[in-house]
Amino acid sequence: MNKEHETMIAALSIEGAPKIITPPPGPKSREILQYQADNESSAVSYSRGMPMALARGKGATLEDVDGNVYIDFFGGAGVMALGHGHPEVLKAAHAQIDQVTHSLDIPTETRQRMVEALRKVLPKELTRVFFGGPTGSDAVEQALKLAKYNSGRYGVLAFEGAYHGMTGASLALTTDSSHRDGLGPLVPGIQFIPFPYTYRNPFGCPDERVNEQAADNLERVLDDSHSGYSKPAAVILESVQGEGGTIIPSKHFLQRVRKITEERGIILICDEIQSGLGRTGKMFAFEYGEIVPDIVTMSKALGGVGFPISAIAYREELNTWPAGKTIGTFRGNMVAFAAGATALEWMLEYDIPGRAAELGEKALVRLKAMESKSAILGEARGIGLMLALEMVEDKVSRKPSPELAKKIRKYAHQRGVMIEVGGHHNNVARLLPPLIISEELLMRGIGIIEGVVNDLESGKLA
Ligand SMILES: Cc1ncc(COP(=O)(O)O)c(C=O)c1O
Repeated sequence: MNKEHETMIAALSIEGAPKIITPPPGPKSREILQYQADNESSAVSYSRGMPMALARGKGATLEDVDGNVYIDFFGGAGVMALGHGHPEVLKAAHAQIDQVTHSLDIPTETRQRMVEALRKVLPKELTRVFFGGPTGSDAVEQALKLAKYNSGRYGVLAFEGAYHGMTGASLALTTDSSHRDGLGPLVPGIQFIPFPYTYRNPFGCPDERVNEQAADNLERVLDDSHSGYSKPAAVILESVQGEGGTIIPSKHFLQRVRKITEERGIILICDEIQSGLGRTGKMFAFEYGEIVPDIVTMSKALGGVGFPISAIAYREELNTWPAGKTIGTFRGNMVAFAAGATALEWMLEYDIPGRAAELGEKALVRLKAMESKSAILGEARGIGLMLALEMVEDKVSRKPSPELAKKIRKYAHQRGVMIEVGGHHNNVARLLPPLIISEELLMRGIGIIEGVVNDLESGKLA
């Protein structure tokens, strides 16, 4: 890492974080939270796990309305790759606001800049970009539509533990029963097979064979005419499973999935909504497999500082849609394009993915040391700055402990660090810090989490 760049990057965050001056939620936060509870939907969730009301964000830090400053390892659920209030990204957004803010898909110079920025980071095989709606779920819906339209088939094969969104088909591709239950039958034609989740080996084979076995299983269900799996339009996977608990498949698995789908004329969709744009230490996590999917979905970090946009990119031969085949009002937001293009250019200029890889390696050494000392931290894992602690009741039974993961979130928040919880069993503490976090702040935040884990283990915290 370049020393001069690191000084500039450290200055993006609030100095001296974390700073807890009143136990959260403080009095002002409590008032706003109460208003929210009284007036917004009972579905509101994050403000229950991390109770506070926010005042401002700067880099990898956030300040609440009571003056508490937090180290942000939550990153707006992986959105804030360049942190809060990145000055150059904001400057571009401000300038765009005074020009034009909405144009459906009528081109503007800013829209062209966004496409050009994407062309710089995407593999050259993915020649076409489509902006179909503001959210990640929209991108997944568009990717499926494109796959169905081109293949003439409607089935989709996805993986256990997948999270692809909250709308019609994207929800049907999401496995967490807490999101699916009570809604009746979802979109038909979607089937699931196990993901290579080595720590909870779904096959009973030796752990080192899990990735091979998962690929064998994909091949088997596709080739066995009695498997009950019809030939799908597409196979969709997260190149690294995010909400499922930061589950990292091997290079070999990605390569085999690519080969299996290619040989059978099945479209491969890599969902890079969370793992993409530098998060894992590469611009896209599928690059670890040295593969190119047929369609890639992007969102989250794409809008620079949290402006909502999403996109899919795909191969030329899939570009068969007639004009207007798929439409929508919010097909690209000019402010998000200005911010997103600036963010991508900045990421390239300062090699932010490379920096995430380097910092992630150092962080993982620290987390692995925690794992080796702890009786309740089953596995620490990570790739780039997508890091996770899988919490268990004990390391022999590996019984998942969602309570511990929630307690880590609660007490880390009280001590000034924000994290996310996920996993097949909701027992994984997930760290998704902005990629512009300084090494010092990253290690300080990890130190605080380590203190919480130790105190939970010793009984000092209950
Ligand atoms: C891999 C992945 N795909 C899709 C989505 C859905 O994106 P959104 O919440 O913007 O609809 C998410 C959200 O977390 C995600 O992580």
